[in-house]
Amino acid sequence: MSSINKKLRVGILGATGMVGQRFISLLENHPWFEVVCLAASPQSAGKSYQEAAGGRWSMKNPIPEKNRDMKLQAVEEDFNEIIKKVDLVFSAIDMDKEKIKEIEARYAAAGAAVISNNSAHRWTEDVPMVIPEINAHHLSLIDIQRKNRSWKSGLLVVKPNCSLQSYLPVVYALKEFKPKYVLVTTLQAISGAGKTFESWPEMVDNCTPFIKGEEEKTEKEPMKIWGEDCPVISATCIRVAASDGHMASVSVEFENKPTLEQIRNAIDNFSNPLNELNLPSAPEKFIKYFTEDDRPQTKLDRDYAGGMGITCGRFREDGKYGWKFVALSHNTIRGAAGGAVLIAELLHKKGYLNI
Ligand SMILES: NC(=O)c1ccc[n+]([C@@H]2O[C@H](COP(=O)([O-])OP(=O)(O)OC[C@H]3O[C@@H](n4cnc5c(N)ncnc54)[C@H](OP(=O)(O)O)[C@@H]3O)[C@@H](O)[C@H]2O)c1
Repeated sequence: MSSINKKLRVGILGATGMVGQRFISLLENHPWFEVVCLAASPQSAGKSYQEAAGGRWSMKNPIPEKNRDMKLQAVEEDFNEIIKKVDLVFSAIDMDKEKIKEIEARYAAAGAAVISNNSAHRWTEDVPMVIPEINAHHLSLIDIQRKNRSWKSGLLVVKPNCSLQSYLPVVYALKEFKPKYVLVTTLQAISGAGKTFESWPEMVDNCTPFIKGEEEKTEKEPMKIWGEDCPVISATCIRVAASDGHMASVSVEFENKPTLEQIRNAIDNFSNPLNELNLPSAPEKFIKYFTEDDRPQTKLDRDYAGGMGITCGRFREDGKYGWKFVALSHNTIRGAAGGAVLIAELLHKKGYLNI
């Protein structure tokens, strides 16, 4: 394991967007990472961060003072300048997927560690897709990735879609009972589309029954993360009138149906591979189990463990599937920027960022 002596230099690609803003907010006082570069589209390049993003800043805290006057650069056009300044980039750009694939690989090939929120590389064979508490061991794929691509210090890791981060950890915590089939309906906040109620007034007092591409991601991405024995998943993804927080209503069929006490024990005693690592963003307790009938609630519980924890509750028997329950996670923290920062911390601790 590496010793963590000096701060790594971080760039945020897509810094002006919803996820980019979350990165800025989460990294304001990070003990290991220092934001040295903010980049976005050519339309934002050359402007100060305040000028480009101030009007759409959606975080609770104001733009950190140290980032306010930083001049935005263009992700593609200023590549040669950016790559000289950074050890690590978080990617939160939203543009054509093939273009994103190319841009992320270009940064990694030039020596940066790239951790992406985008779906572009999720199915690239030598790119690990990671929820650290579930499949931290997949990071060893980086050795093969570097060998395949002759990369020395660069690497590329992705995190999965935000929609599955609320329910998958809970089902995974019950894996000893062999979950075979999962029927899930997600109730997803509007920040998942990079929006606020100001920028998307049609969503006030509304639910919409279609989120493009989301059901496929929710059903398939768990297979890469979980691997063999991943249950079959059937998903319906609904956009709801919440600002932040993705809730999921889940039914699970098990090969060995557990008792409620066994479920409670398995969740409370979830064996978390991060426990001994002291990562700054890791929640002390990954999954919180509520016994109250009216929890978790999106507004009350999305910020559990700084938005990095998962909450669940309402476990009750289901006539067809065995058990049903409700789970919740913060989509732009655990489901996006926070999840990516946690991966970066894990990479650093494991010595992959010794650049
Ligand atoms: N929101 C979530 O909860 C969430 C969760 C997980 C994953 N994600 C993924 O994270 C990514 C960002 O999502 P978001 O919600 O933050 O989107 P967003 O608010 O629409 O922000 C998009 C960002 O991409 C930049 N961009 C657009 N075109 C560009 C170009 N040609 N070159 C360089 N930069 C460009 C934008 O810069 P300008 O401001 O200059 O246009 C902006 O910074 C997406 O891939 C999304 O699928 C989002």
